[in-house]
This record gives sequence, C-alpha cells and structure tokens, in this order.
Amino acid sequence: MSFPFHRPRRLRRTEKLRSLIREHRLSPAGFVYPMFVCPGSNVHEEISSMPGIYHQSVDKIVEECRELASLGISAVVLFGLPETKDARGASSLAKDGVVQKAIEAIKKAKLDLLVITDVCLCEYTDHGHCGMVENGEIINDATLEVLSEQALSHARAGADIVAPSDMMDGRVGVIRAKLDDHKFENVAIMAYSAKYCSGFYGPFREAAHSAPLVGDRRSYQMDPANGRESLKEVAMDIEEGADIVMVKPALAYLDVIQLVRQHFDMPVAAYNVSGEYSMVKAAAAKNWIDEKRIVMEILTGIQRAGAEIILTYHAKDAARWLKEKS
Ligand code: PBG
Repeated sequence: MSFPFHRPRRLRRTEKLRSLIREHRLSPAGFVYPMFVCPGSNVHEEISSMPGIYHQSVDKIVEECRELASLGISAVVLFGLPETKDARGASSLAKDGVVQKAIEAIKKAKLDLLVITDVCLCEYTDHGHCGMVENGEIINDATLEVLSEQALSHARAGADIVAPSDMMDGRVGVIRAKLDDHKFENVAIMAYSAKYCSGFYGPFREAAHSAPLVGDRRSYQMDPANGRESLKEVAMDIEEGADIVMVKPALAYLDVIQLVRQHFDMPVAAYNVSGEYSMVKAAAAKNWIDEKRIVMEILTGIQRAGAEIILTYHAKDAARWLKEKS
C-alpha cells in the first residue's frame, strides 16, 4: 500500500491540482477589520507601533469602510478613543460618543458591511481596567450594568453585533437580557470567550490608550497556561446567549481554537491581535520575511485550526491579495 504505489506528490505537481484538492480557502467574507475611532474631523493618524493602522475621525472611518465593503470584507469591529475618561467609563455610554457616532455614520452610508462593536471599559476608564475598581480590586457585578448599558447604546446607534471583551463573569447573559428588554433581540453577541492575559496586546494598548495605570489584567483574563479552561468559559458564554464565540490571541492559541471548534457546534472567531500584526510588519520592513506569503500562511493556519471568522489588521491587504489571485 505504500511507495511506489502511493505518491502524494502526484497531486502537488501543478497549481491546478493543488488548488483542486485544497482543504481550506481563505475569503474576505470571513474577515473582520478592527478600526480605532477618535473625535474630530479629517483625522487620520498612523499608530506608530502598527504601520498601516490609524486613529481616525468618523468621516475618515466611513471612507475606509467604503473601501472595505468594495473588497468584500464582511465586517468592522470598532474601538473608541473617547474625549474624556473617568472611573466608571461613563463616556462609553454617551449617545454622541465616538463609537456611537461612527456606527450611525457607517449605517447611514448604507454599505454592505456589518458593524461590530467592542464592548469594554478599558478605553473609557481613567485607570485603564476593563471593569470598575474598588479598593484596588476589579469588581465584577457592578461592572455588568455599565457594560450592558454600553452594549444597548451601540444597539440603539445601529450595531449589528456587540462583542464584549472585558472578561467579567456573567456579562453575556446580562447584555443579552438588556438587549432583549429593549427589543434588540436581533442584535447578536460575539463573545470574547477565551481571552487570554497576553503580551501580544502591547501595540493595541498604545492604539487604544488603554494600558492599565496600576496592576495588570491577570485577575480577569485567562492564564496562558490553561487550555481546558477555555471550554468552561465558552460553555458559559453559549449558555448565557452568545451567538459567536471567540478565542484571542490566535497564534499562540491555535490549539485552543481547535479545541473549541471540536467541542462546540457554534461559529468560532479568532482575533489575530495587534502584537501578532506588528511583529510581521516589523520583520517585513526589514525584508527579513516575505510579508504577503507570511500573512496568507498565518491566516490559513488560523482557519485550519477551526476559526471561520478572523479579526485581523491584515484584512485589507489579504483581501487585495486574494483578489489578485482570482
Ligand atoms: C479591550 C481589548 C483589548 C483588545 C481587544 N479588546 C486589549 C486588552 O484586553 O488589553 C486587544 C486587541 C489587540 O491587541 O489587537 N479589552
């Protein structure tokens, strides 16, 4: 049954053959592009640690969304850089907050693009934690009310999907109940379910101005050494009403993506985070790697591990490269 009877190389001879038997095909339909909304107008400032990614005012965000839609990318996920911060993250709920205004403007432009919003406090609190702080502790239950109000304000502005990334216990259930109470039963929840306490978020914290002033996120985000625990987090989120579950970061957690894919019959997303992006960009800038080849390999790897949805800063480049090929 073996060589010379079997020759796996037979099907690798030409691109036509390879493409015929290919197991995984990337598509921009599975991509979600993260964007950073700031106040003002005509603002378009590159984030130094993330070449090609910008802080943008609402007008510029809409412009780029037009481009994303034309590339066939399915969705954006919005992060806000608010004008003011306080202990409770109150600016995250404002009807005229940066994210709320961006959602409205994108919806008004009637693009073929889903709007997902990140629901969290870290960009809006003066201490930079994802929940409220009392006596040096990040308190869980009181934070849930603010998070659910934030999600509701995004839904009111027109968000299609809300994505809680705070890692407080019970937030998915409280957000689901709040949305349903206000007749937003069709707004979906994409839960950052297995979100690890990761060094790979470094550049994002510069991008979102959200580094905690004191302490770290270890008391709420998952320990990188735990794989099986992700199943518990995901199961809880599904029970509480999550429509899509997410693993984050992606590359050091491909096993977790696979584990979640194998255990749950749910749409699985993976977040190819800022540090993963910046490493590729930095090495490519030095000509140490072939950027296009590496990006496609990374995205394919994330999909092969089991994620049908990939949140990635490479989305635009990858969509263009996929278009070139076809
Ligand atoms: C907010 C949030 C973070 C990211 C997404 N939502 C940062 C964090 O938890 O510190 C990271 C995204 C990235 O690194 O690209 N809680």
